[in-house]
Amino acid sequence: MARYDGKKVVIIGGTSGIGLTTAKMLVDEGARVLATGRSQGGLDSAQRELGEGALVVSSDAGSLTDIDALAERAKAEFDTFDLLFVNAGIGLFAPFERTTEAMYDDVFKVNTKGSFFAVQKLAPLINRGGSVVLTTAISNVKGMPMLAASGATKAALRSFARTFAVELAPQGIRVNAVSPGPTDTPSWGKSFPDAETVAHITAQMSDANPMKRMGTSEEVAKAVLFLAFDATYTTGAELPVDGGQSQL
Ligand SMILES: NC(=O)c1ccc[n+]([C@@H]2O[C@H](COP(=O)([O-])OP(=O)(O)OC[C@H]3O[C@@H](n4cnc5c(N)ncnc54)[C@H](OP(=O)(O)O)[C@@H]3O)[C@@H](O)[C@H]2O)c1
Repeated sequence: MARYDGKKVVIIGGTSGIGLTTAKMLVDEGARVLATGRSQGGLDSAQRELGEGALVVSSDAGSLTDIDALAERAKAEFDTFDLLFVNAGIGLFAPFERTTEAMYDDVFKVNTKGSFFAVQKLAPLINRGGSVVLTTAISNVKGMPMLAASGATKAALRSFARTFAVELAPQGIRVNAVSPGPTDTPSWGKSFPDAETVAHITAQMSDANPMKRMGTSEEVAKAVLFLAFDATYTTGAELPVDGGQSQL
């Protein structure tokens, strides 16, 4: 019997990077996964990569209409499920002096408001003994240049993890957060205009890290699965996967 046989999982932001790797590990070990994303290319390639164990659907994580539709889809596909992984997020890199109102609103809409309402709408479908994992970031506790708005969106998520944990405890649902440090995913290519800038920024990030490298999406996904299925006496916690950067 495979490790996650019979488990049903919803991953918001499951078509790339950390979310896709988590979906792959789950499907490979017998789980059924409903994964969301936005770009058509990402949706198509994720469906191809994940195969029949997954259903990949388009859903804008910042749209309440789409979150309602996703809850209906999850109910139709799974009736109830075991893990909600709320992972979609935008990494906005901008000096605060040059952050516009539109940029600020967009990053809070996807990272914070969307995550809040995703848990509100989907938690009623989670089985007793199931859990929620939120993806935060180490910029929620560290002053990091260009990450004022992004870091604040993730600080709000850290707070949600505590409050959701206490409010969902009576239903037997644990809520935790995984906090990645700089992690090698396609997100860097989406945040910066060209490959040269990406190489420069990621080299700087590696140098600033106590372990002198970036993490991998596999390293973060393993922590997600630990929080989701193994950490049965852990709720309201945030687990850093950051080469020690938030602590050292
Ligand atoms: N990589 C890092 O260094 C790092 C560090 C700290 C925290 N994080 C956090 O980790 C999480 C995953 O990041 P990643 O690095 O794996 O990024 P990624 O490779 O860009 O993947 C992000 C996923 O979220 C989806 N997504 C983003 N905005 C969405 C929206 N509005 N609606 C629906 N789906 C949306 C993306 O789909 P589309 O591609 O279709 O938009 C994709 O599936 C994010 O919350 C990020 O803030 C990452």
